[in-house]
Amino acid sequence: MLHKKIIAISAIALSVVLFSCSEGVKKEPKPVDVQELTKDKPETHGTELKESDITLSNPLDQSMVKTGKEIYDLKCSACHRLTTEKLVGPGWKDVTKIRKPLWIMNMITNVDMMLETDPEAQKLLEQCMVRMPNQNLTVPQAREVVEFMRSNDGEK
Ligand code: HEC
Repeated sequence: MLHKKIIAISAIALSVVLFSCSEGVKKEPKPVDVQELTKDKPETHGTELKESDITLSNPLDQSMVKTGKEIYDLKCSACHRLTTEKLVGPGWKDVTKIRKPLWIMNMITNVDMMLETDPEAQKLLEQCMVRMPNQNLTVPQAREVVEFMRSNDGEK
C-alpha cells in the first residue's frame, strides 16, 4: 500500500519534472554564434562606404532584423539602449530618423575614421567622453544592425 503510494507520488513528481524541462527547452532561445552566422560573408570592414553600397528594403527584411537584434544583444547592448536614454553611448531610439543609413554604417564599420573626421561623430564623443571601440563588424552585419534600428524606430 505504502509502496504503491510512493510509486504514484514519484510518478507524478517525475512527470512534473519532465514536463517543466521540456517546457523550458522549448522556450529557451538558442544561443547564437554571430561568427558562425556570417562566416560566408566577406570581411569588408575598414573601407569607407559610399551611398551606392547601401540599398534599403521596404518593407523591412525581417530575417535581417532578427540577425541585427542578435548582433545588438551580443556586441552593442553593453553601451547602447534601445530607448533615447544614454548609457555609455547614445540610445538608439530614432537614430535612423536623425542619421542617414550611410552615416550609421560608416560609424559602425569605420568608427576611428568617423571620430577623426566627422563633425557629428566628434560632437557625440564630446558628449559621451568615451571613444566607441571598433566592433569589427562586416558590412553585411552593419547593414543587418541598420535593419534592426529601423525596426526599433517603428518601420514595418
Ligand atoms: C564600449 C561601448 C560601446 C559599444 C560596445 C558600442 N558602442 Fe556605439 N557608441 C559608443 C559611444 C561612446 C558612442 C558615441 C561616439 C563616441 O564617443 O565615440 C557611440 C556611437 C554610436 C553610434 C552613433 C549614435 C548616434 O546617436 O548617432 C552608432 C550608430 C553606434 N554607436 C553603433 C554601435 C553598434 C552597431 C555597436 C555594436 C556592434 C556599438 N555601437 C557598440 C559606445 C559603444
